[in-house]
Amino acid sequence: MAENVFLNGKYCKSEEALVSIEDRGFIFGDGVYEVMRCYKGNLFEIEEHLLRLERSASRIALPLPYSGGEIGDICNNLVQKSKARDAILYLQVTRGIAPRVHHFPSSISPTVMMKVYEIDEKEVLERKNGVKAISLPDERWDNCDIKCINLLPNVLAKEKARSEGAYEAIFVGSEGVSECASSNVFCVSEGTVFTAPLGKKILAGISRGAVLKLAQEQGIEVELSYPSLALLQSAEEIFITNTVDEVTPVTDLDGKTVGKGKAGPVTLRLQESFREMVYDFLGAQKG
Ligand code: PDD
Repeated sequence: MAENVFLNGKYCKSEEALVSIEDRGFIFGDGVYEVMRCYKGNLFEIEEHLLRLERSASRIALPLPYSGGEIGDICNNLVQKSKARDAILYLQVTRGIAPRVHHFPSSISPTVMMKVYEIDEKEVLERKNGVKAISLPDERWDNCDIKCINLLPNVLAKEKARSEGAYEAIFVGSEGVSECASSNVFCVSEGTVFTAPLGKKILAGISRGAVLKLAQEQGIEVELSYPSLALLQSAEEIFITNTVDEVTPVTDLDGKTVGKGKAGPVTLRLQESFREMVYDFLGAQKG
């Protein structure tokens, strides 16, 4: 099997990559991460992901041991070594290894880990026809803009969704609908697309940013405000976005059919233009 892991300066196979039990990622969840999409061996929106990594790391005062350019080179080398085509690259940086004290230890070097996971394109494609979602109270912390590895509330929400036959959990906070366990969420009401504004309540999704740009280019009306759960329930269309699922319609919310029970016209337009953006990206790679 090809090398598909990078750990602290070495490329290796997954089973050779071992991290100490005293790593603060393991003990405290003290770290940040990124998930990038690899199309035909090319990392999509890598600059955006690395900028967000820098922002997340700086929000928790975690010094990254490599420059953005160096991390980018490592990511690209790893994808090449892994021989992956359609995959995701998971990148995690933790504060490093030290005896357990809560405050930041004085001399410590971060642990940098990356792994390439092949993805099942067929499963992703099936979800493009529509998925079920449930709504849940947003009980996470107030810094959801940090892409940190403390994902227990997200894990519990996703598991609750799965146990109810749904794919995603949509969080509803005091302001309204924020985002989902692992994606951003949008709804379409009377032709206007609604989604939560950037801030500390949501992750600044790279796919969310791309979709907003596409919507603007196409003259689709957008309102950046927290949709209420009632607005979501009466919406003609709901869709979610993330690096793996791109633009995916939600056709069932809490057991009730959304709109006509299939991807609506705005969702389809954005889904298609997102795909075109990916094809343009791939075209530019070859040329
Ligand atoms: N999650 N919101 C949350 C809470 C997320 O975890 C994600 C992505 C997003 C969408 O971000 P992007 O468009 O940059 O993928 C929004 C990744 C896929 C994950 O944790 O696996």
